[in-house]
Amino acid sequence: MRLFKDIKDWEVFRSKMNDSSNIGFVPTMGSLHKGHISLMKRSIEENRYTAVSIFINPTQFDNKNDLKNYPINIQNDLEILESTGIKYVLLPTEKDIYKNGYNFRISEHNYSLQMEGLSREGHFEGVLTIVMKLLNIVQPHSAYFGEKDFQQFKLIRNMCKSFFMNINIIPCKTIREEDGLAFSSRNLLLNESERAIAPKFYQTLISKKSIEEMHKDLKKYGFIVEYIEKNNDRIFGSVKLGKIRLIDNETL
Ligand code: PAF
Repeated sequence: MRLFKDIKDWEVFRSKMNDSSNIGFVPTMGSLHKGHISLMKRSIEENRYTAVSIFINPTQFDNKNDLKNYPINIQNDLEILESTGIKYVLLPTEKDIYKNGYNFRISEHNYSLQMEGLSREGHFEGVLTIVMKLLNIVQPHSAYFGEKDFQQFKLIRNMCKSFFMNINIIPCKTIREEDGLAFSSRNLLLNESERAIAPKFYQTLISKKSIEEMHKDLKKYGFIVEYIEKNNDRIFGSVKLGKIRLIDNETL
């Protein structure tokens, strides 16, 4: 497995790669779990090479404490990457990624202002900006995103279409614990009693009850509901459990 901490080193390496060999890319913020592993395995299956990036992107956090508390487990991540069979890992620094500060950004003015965008100001601007930068650096043929962040996946896919970027943006099914809780790096921050309640979020989302009843049920279990919303053919939700924010969605 080769680690690239300096973007320039990767660029030199990438320029020497045979361009007809497919490159798959999985961007992450680390604290890797089974959800990430499923993206990597899919990329390994579908491409000759797979590159993974780990970069905790500060511009997508609307809340300083959320950024400060975001779990970091680089050593464990590297072991997971190695055992999954990943050959290339990019660990860029904030200084390199935001060399010119945050003066240039990608913004979307419709779908990004709904749901997560309403609750987290500037979040998708940060996500789209970092993903654009990473796609330009890695130059993959395909990039893989989990459906747990379905709104993110759709925005990234439409960004690539809008900017005529010839990259396949591939959605991958949400991976869940046996009790239904979607894998998320933030789950590590749940305490024991919160972890026991957390699966009730997904169970309620798929209960087919009215949105009003879902609100009531979730409150009763101890969640603070940010939104539950049907959007196209899916139901989306975001709740807080103590200090931890969880999101999920499912097809209707
Ligand atoms: O889904 C994530 O982990 C992040 O939003 C992403 C796509 C890696 C961008 O920082």
